[in-house]
Amino acid sequence: MVLVVGGAGYVGSHTLLALREAGREAIALDDLSRGHEWALLGAPLVRADVTDLEALRYVFGRHQVSAVLHFAGLIEVGESVKDPAGFYHANVHGTWCLLEAMREAGVRDLVFSSTAAVYGEPEHTPIPEMHPRNPTSPYGDTKLAAERLIQAYEAAYGFRAVRLRYFNAAGADPEGRLGEAHDPETHLIPRALLSVLGRGQFTVFGDDYPTPDGTCVRDYVHVCDLAAAHVAALDALRRGESGAFNLGTGRGASVREVVEAVRAVTGADFSPGVAPRRPGDPAVLVADPGLAGSVLGWQPQRSDLLTVVEDAWRWHRRSLQAD
Ligand SMILES: NC(=O)c1ccc[n+]([C@@H]2O[C@H](COP(=O)([O-])OP(=O)(O)OC[C@H]3O[C@@H](n4cnc5c(N)ncnc54)[C@H](O)[C@@H]3O)[C@@H](O)[C@H]2O)c1
Repeated sequence: MVLVVGGAGYVGSHTLLALREAGREAIALDDLSRGHEWALLGAPLVRADVTDLEALRYVFGRHQVSAVLHFAGLIEVGESVKDPAGFYHANVHGTWCLLEAMREAGVRDLVFSSTAAVYGEPEHTPIPEMHPRNPTSPYGDTKLAAERLIQAYEAAYGFRAVRLRYFNAAGADPEGRLGEAHDPETHLIPRALLSVLGRGQFTVFGDDYPTPDGTCVRDYVHVCDLAAAHVAALDALRRGESGAFNLGTGRGASVREVVEAVRAVTGADFSPGVAPRRPGDPAVLVADPGLAGSVLGWQPQRSDLLTVVEDAWRWHRRSLQAD
């Protein structure tokens, strides 16, 4: 069976569902510090902290785990600047504990959630995997440190790992069963949609970037496409493939284009104000996803911007009605 660490979170819960729908046996491990029990949709949960090595030993002793997907950790860049100790503990020490428990149990196959933040300010775009890694936040540093730790376990102990570097995860389960529910919400599309629903303010940070319309350009990838990439990564590990792979579409959307899509999907007269740039936001972050296509056989299916926003809108409206 597959152990989904961080399976109650946004990307983990969509992946857990995709695994179960593909007929794979899976259980979640999560401390529910940021995730939600409802997001498991009835899948079994071990409630534990990934930094608790004893608890992990117990889990590997009780279950026949063949592979691990590791989503658990802290994700918010601003929070990482204020609390680097917490981020190193959760993201690096947590990964070390998981690797140690796997090593002791003889489990060697791992898929790790990494991030475009490992690249830092890009020297060129689209960004290939070989682009220099130069994170600009403690968050990015911890994810890169975890990647290097995993590579050391591959070299020394025969682990096989796929490191998936997501660009901007967005969207929701098209059937409305799951979606993004971070608190506080810092991601652009949910913040825009929530502001249309009267929850929170939305501001465009900077309209003087060297981009076609002056706003930042990002590569939005549908969370269900990310989930499918994890299923493909497990198959690739079985074929003996490993390494780092960008998950993005190769196409960027500007903040203004997102605002347009939100207006088109919601029908709201959505005209956010503009504030100065935030420090540390690169102008353009777009993936070169070619390697994921050729090695993992992965192609995004639902990642065009309107579909992403429609799926997210359906989810946010439903979840606020259920409140
Ligand atoms: N969301 C994105 O746009 C994005 C982009 C790039 C990379 N990532 C990476 O993907 C992964 C998942 O992101 P997400 O958006 O689903 O985040 P999330 O916060 O929704 O999910 C993380 C899950 O891990 C759990 N968790 C946190 N610390 C834990 C601990 N110590 N022990 C056990 N469980 C713990 C949380 O309760 C939560 O359920 C993260 O590793 C993140 O770095 C996300």
